Amino acid sequence: MAALRTVSGYTGMILFCFLCAIATAKGEEQVPLVAWASDGFALSPVSAPSAGHTVSVEELESHLNTALSTVPHNLLLFLQDRLSVDDFTLYGGVFGNKPDSVFQNLEVSALLSSSSLWLPSVSSSATALVSTLLQNQIDAAPLYMNPDTLAQMRLNASVAALLVFRLPYSGGDMMSTKEVLSGNDEVIGQVLSIMKAQSVPYTAVFTALWPSRVIEEVAPAVQSVWSRSLLQSRREEPTATNPPLEFKEKGSTCILLWAEKLVVSQYRSEKWERHDLAPKTFGEDVEPNLSGSSCNETHSLLVLNYEDVLNYRSFKLIFVMNRRHYKVSARHWFTMDLVHLEYDGKTATFNGSRYIYAPAEYSYRCESVSSSRYPQLSPHSDKDNANDWQISFDDFQIQGFNVGGKDFSYASDCASFFTPGIWMGLVTSLLMVLALTYGLHMIMQLRTMDRFDDPKGPAISVPQTE
Ligand SMILES: *[C@@H]1O[C@H](CO)[C@@H](O)[C@H](O)[C@H]1NC(C)=O
Ligand SMILES: *[C@@H]1O[C@H](CO)[C@@H](O)[C@H](O)[C@H]1NC(C)=O
Ligand SMILES: *[C@@H]1O[C@H](CO)[C@@H](O)[C@H](O)[C@H]1NC(C)=O
Ligand SMILES: *[C@@H]1O[C@H](CO)[C@@H](O)[C@H](O)[C@H]1NC(C)=O
Repeated sequence: MAALRTVSGYTGMILFCFLCAIATAKGEEQVPLVAWASDGFALSPVSAPSAGHTVSVEELESHLNTALSTVPHNLLLFLQDRLSVDDFTLYGGVFGNKPDSVFQNLEVSALLSSSSLWLPSVSSSATALVSTLLQNQIDAAPLYMNPDTLAQMRLNASVAALLVFRLPYSGGDMMSTKEVLSGNDEVIGQVLSIMKAQSVPYTAVFTALWPSRVIEEVAPAVQSVWSRSLLQSRREEPTATNPPLEFKEKGSTCILLWAEKLVVSQYRSEKWERHDLAPKTFGEDVEPNLSGSSCNETHSLLVLNYEDVLNYRSFKLIFVMNRRHYKVSARHWFTMDLVHLEYDGKTATFNGSRYIYAPAEYSYRCESVSSSRYPQLSPHSDKDNANDWQISFDDFQIQGFNVGGKDFSYASDCASFFTPGIWMGLVTSLLMVLALTYGLHMIMQLRTMDRFDDPKGPAISVPQTE
């Protein structure tokens, strides 16, 4: 260790980059990044990456070069441990429409501003280097800060600086992710108001080292956590077996559905009775009754009417999809908000919107969509009968908007995250990151290891460097 301490900053930086590259070459891990400037400044527009494209290190560098060309060179980097677009959906007000959004400061200053830069999918190998990339922009070493040290510092608007604020993602057992994120947002708010109070214009970047996975909301029995990745290409054509089900309105197809299995199960006399609706739905000589279905620009309703399902004379499986415009991504998204079962006049309703969504030009596909895989589909309320039912769709693909014909558009794929390979990658990468953060730590001549390791302790700070 003593020998390591003598490593010069320069060599350290190379080592850092090298380790970053190794650590993150493992997976296709995506992290969102948002950049914005203080009032009165606008980031230069960047040609937005096409949907589903993961921004690489080189692309991020060029985007930052362009975007930062017109804005103040007092840079603030809010670097959270982990972050995914899912966090915005789950806890935020912009994607998630939550009134009690935990990203209030971030949303007001960045996400809702038309002049900000929003990259929903940046490879984590690029965001791990974001501090270096920003440093190259202004040619100044980063200062690791917390709001208290910032308040004591006299900033000079004409001297470029890179101030880095590390933010945790989880707070151990004591705090929920929501509380931690809410605390982080307060830190962002404080920092921005200090900058304002000192009348120093700034450019800020919020991103993370690693993608997060929404773990705490998932029941322990669940082995996979559902995350999403926008895939440019679909897997095998489902048409290999049967063509997708089409619903046509005014002669043109507006909804497509395909699944290998559409299983509904009801709990009766102490056991689950299953019925697979797929054979009645897909196939050359099957004509499913779609009466009641409808679609227009913003709402799509697919009603599948069956007879004699689990002894119910009439049985309906209904998919409710909506399309909304989210300013933050300047794009329309569709969500599958609800799945209803209607049987002999009773209903069972499941919510899906938080997890089942895709850009509106895309279709949504998932290896398995299931109500037992909480929270992918969750009972809408305790009042109806959803708790007596389970639904489980295998190799499921649906598209309710922008349908161009008999075939699905590109699919936005939900991918199961914790495969053994990824676990191995994660552990290896974690070790690498530990090594490199230690290296970085020394480069910045920070103080002690113990404080750095303690997420609840005060953030590491360096009052000044030369
Ligand atoms: C800010 O920095 C510039 C250039 O280094 C210097 O001329 C100026 O006096 C500084 N302003 C303050 C308020 O310190
Ligand atoms: C289709 O389903 C609706 C509602 O369940 C029913 O009223 C109608 O008769 C069915 N149509 C055919 C052709 O079976
Ligand atoms: C689309 O249909 C829904 C109900 O199915 C209706 O409430 C909405 O007004 C329609 N929108 C347009 C633009 O026609
Ligand atoms: C389902 O959605 C409704 C409104 O869309 C909401 O009130 C309800 O809490 C949701 N249920 C669950 C279990 O998330």
